[in-house]
Amino acid sequence: MKYIGNKTRLLNFIDNSCINSGLPKSGTFIDIFGGTGSVGTFFKKKGYRVISNDIMTYSYVLQYVSIAIDEMPPFAKITDDGILGVMNILNDPCLREKGFFYENFAPGGSCGRQYFSDSNAQRIDAIREKIEAWKNENKLSLDEYFILLAALIDAADFVVNISGTYGAFLKIWRSMALKNIYLEIPQLFNNGLQNLDIAKNSMPFMLYRIWSLMQMLGISS
Ligand SMILES: C[S@@+](CC[C@H](N)C(=O)[O-])C[C@H]1O[C@@H](n2cnc3c(N)ncnc32)[C@H](O)[C@@H]1O
Repeated sequence: MKYIGNKTRLLNFIDNSCINSGLPKSGTFIDIFGGTGSVGTFFKKKGYRVISNDIMTYSYVLQYVSIAIDEMPPFAKITDDGILGVMNILNDPCLREKGFFYENFAPGGSCGRQYFSDSNAQRIDAIREKIEAWKNENKLSLDEYFILLAALIDAADFVVNISGTYGAFLKIWRSMALKNIYLEIPQLFNNGLQNLDIAKNSMPFMLYRIWSLMQMLGISS
């Protein structure tokens, strides 16, 4: 993701620092400022039980999918073809409408901003509405709902017209921003442990919650 502070490029450094500090090779890894979830996902794959947190909602969604979910759910109330069938529906270019994203973040909207092309903003609006409608019709489990939201967040981030932060858009279109938005299937990983994404906590409260959760689950390391 285009997120300043994303630690993807520092994962080996963080890993080596943990090894050199003599930290245990298994146990519970707590990521208190999870952001994109890159660090928690890395340590989940290394076999740690991961507990992750962040105060922001986008982060909660991404981490819920990469940390807390282990296997792809069936999406049985939407299609017989599982996640592939759902992605086919959502990636249909005819699915578009002029909603919140179009109005606020596309040049054609009333704000005239250039975060997304008119076409992509309309696609984001329609996909977001579709996901919410499925949820309200009880066609999605919580895991299915978060998987689709995470796929949309990632896809939108891929075609956004910014240089590194969402504080400002670029005046000239970057080439990626002119490509059509396309949702990819999120990669899931099962490490056989119960990993947790703790909902949107500010740090002090989160420390108390982690301690309570560890007591509840009988985790001592
Ligand atoms: C530099 S980013 C973390 C990046 C992350 N390691 C990654 O690779 O994406 C810092 C994160 O801390 C979160 N944060 C800042 N203050 C916080 C607080 N008081 N409680 C919880 N999260 C907080 C922010 O929302 C942000 O996502």
